[in-house]
Amino acid sequence: MAYSDKVIDHYENPRNVGSFDKNDDNVGTGMVGAPACGDVMKLQIKVNPATGVIEDARFKTYGCGSAIASSSLVTEWVKGKTLDEAVQIKNSQIAEELALPPVKIHCSILAEDAIKAAVEDYRRKHAVATQE
Ligand code: FES
Ligand code: FES
Repeated sequence: MAYSDKVIDHYENPRNVGSFDKNDDNVGTGMVGAPACGDVMKLQIKVNPATGVIEDARFKTYGCGSAIASSSLVTEWVKGKTLDEAVQIKNSQIAEELALPPVKIHCSILAEDAIKAAVEDYRRKHAVATQE
């Protein structure tokens, strides 16, 4: 199966690889696994507590090229977004941007789930401030 140029680009030059301190109050960490293949993705956001805007993101993915490309792409997409905007990111947008074939759609779902989990983790840390 051939990967698209965008997948290859992100796979060969992944953006924002690495970690933040998960105990940092301004960091949200999302860790998700894909039952279909056993791949694991860790995605972290760093939030400006004054504005609620995501200022930076990091990822580590143990998985296929599409999973790495999906996580690399979303670390770029979430920067500058509010938490509410970040959770609107749909796996279908990721799959479309990367031209993922049907068998690789679950790799983009992993990235969507990782973002949601990271936002949830951040919100849990700031539960008092953000509760509705
Ligand atoms: Fe996950 Fe490809 S099946 S590595
Ligand atoms: Fe399983 Fe890509 S995350 S094949």
